[in-house]
Amino acid sequence: MNLRDRLICELDTGMRTMFAKARSGRPQPLPSIANPDAADPVADKAAIEESIRLMRVNHCGEVCAQALYQGQALVAMADQTRSLLVQAAKEEHDHLAWCESRLGEMGGDKSRLIPLFYAGAFSVGVVSGLLGDKWSMGFLVETERQVETHLHNHLGRISPTDTRSRVIIETMREDEIRHGQSGSQLGAMPLPRPIKTAMSMFARVMTGSTYWI
Ligand SMILES: [Fe+2]
Ligand SMILES: [Fe+2]
Repeated sequence: MNLRDRLICELDTGMRTMFAKARSGRPQPLPSIANPDAADPVADKAAIEESIRLMRVNHCGEVCAQALYQGQALVAMADQTRSLLVQAAKEEHDHLAWCESRLGEMGGDKSRLIPLFYAGAFSVGVVSGLLGDKWSMGFLVETERQVETHLHNHLGRISPTDTRSRVIIETMREDEIRHGQSGSQLGAMPLPRPIKTAMSMFARVMTGSTYWI
């Protein structure tokens, strides 16, 4: 495909990610209880409301991860780099579908700020990809490290009774660790501290706003 064809595909992927119902390639992880389809075990209304807010943040985070990797893949130099990014983006799409499904189960809404953050993350992906594959992998490794820390933090905040949300977050965390390790194996450059700080600030704006909106 030439660049114009790839841009059209990216536009299509972006529209689907932001506005269509996400479809997962892997089944949603479920708690290992006798009947995983039993009624939602979270009885506490305050716990459900907190789970909705946290899963809305995670959903938007997955949108951003997908946008970032799509942007990087668009301009990646080596086929190996591109295929790692495309595979990671596919798994982020699974995460997106699981978060969306869990939000629906709890009666929550996706963030209304998704288009804004998709555009921001996609632009960061293209710019980091244009810097070269090793820098691009550096962005991937740092993104996955920050996401892993963020998910660990959510596991401390989400109610122990909300096992359906917890098992999704735990599975996503395992995938994010693997994505980071794959990026390191492809020779990721360690990012300078100011860039790491800027990425962390972007993440803080996203998590802080989508918790409410
Ligand atoms: Fe993810
Ligand atoms: Fe990831």
